[in-house]
Amino acid sequence: MLDLVIRNANLPGGRKGVDIGVRAGRIAAVEPALPAGAAREIDATNRLVTPPFVDAHVHLDSTLSLGLPRLNESGTLLEGIALWGELKPLLTQEAIYERARKLCLWSAARGTLAIRSHVDVCDDRLLAVEALLRLKRDIAPWIDLQLVAFPQDGFYRHAGAAGNLRRALRLGLEVVGGIPHFERTMEDGRLSVRALMRLAAEEGRLVDMHCDETDDPLSRHVETLTAETQRHGMGGRVAGSHLTSMHSMDNYYVSKLIPLMAEAGIAAIANPLINITLQGRHDTYPKRRGMTRVRELMAAGVPVAFGHDCVMDPWYPLGSHDMLEVAGMGLHVGQLTGVHDMAACFGAVTQTPARILNLEGYGLEPGCHADLVILQAADEIEAIRLRAERLFVLRRGEILARAAPREAVVELGGGAYRLDFTRANLDGIPPGG
Ligand code: FE2
Repeated sequence: MLDLVIRNANLPGGRKGVDIGVRAGRIAAVEPALPAGAAREIDATNRLVTPPFVDAHVHLDSTLSLGLPRLNESGTLLEGIALWGELKPLLTQEAIYERARKLCLWSAARGTLAIRSHVDVCDDRLLAVEALLRLKRDIAPWIDLQLVAFPQDGFYRHAGAAGNLRRALRLGLEVVGGIPHFERTMEDGRLSVRALMRLAAEEGRLVDMHCDETDDPLSRHVETLTAETQRHGMGGRVAGSHLTSMHSMDNYYVSKLIPLMAEAGIAAIANPLINITLQGRHDTYPKRRGMTRVRELMAAGVPVAFGHDCVMDPWYPLGSHDMLEVAGMGLHVGQLTGVHDMAACFGAVTQTPARILNLEGYGLEPGCHADLVILQAADEIEAIRLRAERLFVLRRGEILARAAPREAVVELGGGAYRLDFTRANLDGIPPGG
């Protein structure tokens, strides 16, 4: 006896019109025409049913703080970091918790049910650490939250960061972070990568470092991160976030670097919305895009995820935690308009980040968690094109969020055209004349 059957589902990758059976919060079967008799049925009407969106890179401690205590006038990363420094003394644990919780409600509505958040550990009070650990426990029934100990002001540059980072890991943060390009010197950056990788290896931690988030083509900490991943045998457990300097690097150098990254098993996390707005700020024209070399990394077999990074905070004034907006921006900035490229952009906000986060039970195979999103779109490309509505968001087989289908009506000469901009809708519009 099944608890739920979702009928007529299109799946990522192209399978169409299959049924998904759910029992005890897990997927029990994915087959055409499952027998009737389940406790509940949802007809997906040949729309895309996908495992949830995964945001591999966001900052929940700063989210929704836009305008506190002022706006970022230059739009640069460095003014954002300075502004965050002005806000920090004013923060309370309660305010951080409340803003982050509100964002997670948006995430749930958007079908984003797994999130990796960096948490600044440079505040000696560790307010954000405690607030987000509490949030992680409280939202565990609906969102998987993975927390990174992130020395925002520099592992060596900020006195006390090293001790705070260890303290934050002991308190329950899971992943080791870093920011080598923000250390005082290239040498300090290199040494910070080595120290943090040693710590992660000793403690059996995952690693996700902000790495080379700069337009400086000589910022090459990704090289050290890659070599350390290889040396410690930590393939599949280490990610480099941003890697924007790779955009500006010499092509010959990159032709050596990318195969080494693939060999080491390191992953890349680009943040298209943020990279396209923060990078290139010192350029006149032409202006660099700043996003890392997504196509080339993917072609070499390096897992590439797209993260949202910021929502209404010192670094970015926009956003609603919609991972389809992220995928759409990544697609445009990376000129990834081929059919397989576009599908890969959908993968960059679903399966690939799930792999990078080492999520358990993610996917559409029997045995996986019944965490599913039904989109108002027939396939991945239509979902990105339309920023498709999340009609149903299911967590462990139960409805967590829902939205009405989006529709516009054009009234012409007594007739009405109901439009949802999908291909199926377009085909259903009768010819005029
Ligand atoms: Fe970030």
